[in-house]
Amino acid sequence: MRIAILKEREAGETRVAVTPETAKKFIGLGAEVAVEAGAGLHASISDADYTDAGASVGTAADAVKGADIVLGIRAPDPALLAEAKQGAMVAATFDPFQRRDLVEAYAKGGFEALSMEFMPRITRAQSMDVLSSQSNLSGYKAVMSAADQYGRAFPMMMTAAGTVQAARVFVMGVGVAGLQAIATAKRLGAQVSATDVRSATKEQIESLGAKPIFVEDVEGIEGEGSGGYATEMSEEYQKAQAALVSSHIAKQDIVITTALIPGRDAPRLISDAQIASMKPGSVIFDLAVGQGGNVEGSKPNELVERHGVTIMGYSNTPAALSPDASALFSRNLFNFLSAFWDKETGAVTLDEEIGDAVRLTKDGKIVHERLQA
Ligand code: NAI
Repeated sequence: MRIAILKEREAGETRVAVTPETAKKFIGLGAEVAVEAGAGLHASISDADYTDAGASVGTAADAVKGADIVLGIRAPDPALLAEAKQGAMVAATFDPFQRRDLVEAYAKGGFEALSMEFMPRITRAQSMDVLSSQSNLSGYKAVMSAADQYGRAFPMMMTAAGTVQAARVFVMGVGVAGLQAIATAKRLGAQVSATDVRSATKEQIESLGAKPIFVEDVEGIEGEGSGGYATEMSEEYQKAQAALVSSHIAKQDIVITTALIPGRDAPRLISDAQIASMKPGSVIFDLAVGQGGNVEGSKPNELVERHGVTIMGYSNTPAALSPDASALFSRNLFNFLSAFWDKETGAVTLDEEIGDAVRLTKDGKIVHERLQA
């Protein structure tokens, strides 16, 4: 079984899909691991680190030649995979709803495309879930970046010269990223509050020592759809939420937004009028800026000034923590493939529950039910 790892080619992508640690583990399963030279450079991994782990390092063509499996952070251009084995598996993120063209090209090339974003949210797949591992780091980085941008201190400080007040941090959207944002802001000494449409998060917010800010007595408050994800909310709910948020937001110093609804543009949570109600010097970090944004006027990788408030967000937040993000991503990939690895034959045979959830293409066709025209 030959596994190939290419250099990521998307601008600003610093991560690598397999680290020397996981290369070694794959080799332990009996695989051969081939890496394109320079693949780990932006994640502080040298080619020598890979060769020390037992992998071979060469050109992209060398790495891919005869590969049974190709691993990526983002799915590589199929043109790079011409020399891979017929029907090779490619496990990576595909952004399948936005990149239909790519999915079609993978079908045409006869590859078995495995979309890591579609990993089902079941207990046994938790350790395979790249959305979780990367969101966790994103939540941390959002708070650190906002704290750095904010011109004041986070913790309360009682000094001989007087008291510095603790920063007020409000986290909107309490999934994996939001929970880590709350925990990070708490560790830095901020006064933290948070909201979500899923009522189940109320207890989680409290357990982290933060204050839940929730719409009460409105139909549809549960807000939970399938697989633990949010659903789109009723108009009545959205109005009540906007009113509650407006009064709360005006008192905040830092707002971190993380709200996403799978397969749709990110919901708009903060309007320009709400930004205008905030104190000058406040900072909003929009973690959803790459998916259309939760905040009016936010732009990826730009500091936007509105009414004295700074709005920021990165198109690729985990890439700002590349070594850690790569380490977790590659462990997710290893946990995924090793769970289905036949040590005797070296074959990888996915089961129905996980296979059907992640498989986009096979035998020349688009096979995923969510992508049927
Ligand atoms: P996500 O990235 O899809 O969304 C982020 C958060 O935004 C969610 O909590 C969502 O409810 C919230 N949101 C959506 N619309 C909103 C609105 N209008 N206002 C406020 N908040 C809004 O969520 P993520 O991080 O993927 O987690 C979703 C759930 O899945 C969590 O309960 C998480 O614990 C669970 N999960 C389970 C896993 C497993 O069992 N394998 C793995 C990962 C997550």
